[in-house]
Amino acid sequence: MRVLLLGDVVGKPGRQLVARGVPLLRKQLQLDLVLANAENSAGGSGITPAIYQELTAAGVDGITLGDHIYRRSEIIPVLERATNIVRPANYPATAPGREWMVLTAPSGIRVAVISLMGRVFMRPVDCPWAAIDRILPQIPSDVRAVIVDFHAEATSDKQLMGRYLDGRVSAVLGTHTHVPTADEQIFPQGTAFQCDVGMCGSSHSILGRTIDSVLQTTLTFRPVLFDVASDDVRLSGTYVDIDPGSGRATAIQRISLTQQDVSGWGKGKGRGEE
Ligand SMILES: [Fe+2]
Ligand SMILES: [Fe+2]
Repeated sequence: MRVLLLGDVVGKPGRQLVARGVPLLRKQLQLDLVLANAENSAGGSGITPAIYQELTAAGVDGITLGDHIYRRSEIIPVLERATNIVRPANYPATAPGREWMVLTAPSGIRVAVISLMGRVFMRPVDCPWAAIDRILPQIPSDVRAVIVDFHAEATSDKQLMGRYLDGRVSAVLGTHTHVPTADEQIFPQGTAFQCDVGMCGSSHSILGRTIDSVLQTTLTFRPVLFDVASDDVRLSGTYVDIDPGSGRATAIQRISLTQQDVSGWGKGKGRGEE
């Protein structure tokens, strides 16, 4: 089976390309499940109920988030009710949202998805290693694959989590830095790994925000709104092939598609794979 994780979706430009791209990618790549990190989908920070609906309607099966999860607090009832959106599992038990989710592919194969947050150069959270050790035994035995979105800043932290979970989950894929890394690989015990799968947003930007706004604050220390950038939008993510018999990954491939690539895919050209 094949599962795609799209990197942090940033604002309307990111959402629009996801909405156009996901139906095409599903078909062209024969994806069984599509996951997206949507922590930046509402104006660059947070997610709203309407955007949750928009992304799921576009064909996103499951949503992960990160440090911006509660920026738009109207999402909290969705986090408490919906079964296809998770909060970081190493947030305190009192934080709204579910710690893990199980999604069912059209073939009937069940896949667990867990979000964890790193602790290096980030707001303090509970131990992600203790959280995953607590959760993995709770996953039902009929679940054939486990995907971990490790939302973290430091590549060393991400590598360590990947190695820690090698052979225990199908994939450890990083988000949060918005910059894709070229280290996709399958570890010896069958866990697919990549430090960061990138971003769905403007590549002519600073992490999806306009260069001028970030520069102004950096140079003058005067706080300004970081507007969402809209030039040269890319759809970035990584898909993993998993053997449902063993839960081990058999292949990992990162993708980064321009708007033109997505239009080409719509015409059946199938370009843009790196
Ligand atoms: Fe992000
Ligand atoms: Fe983040």
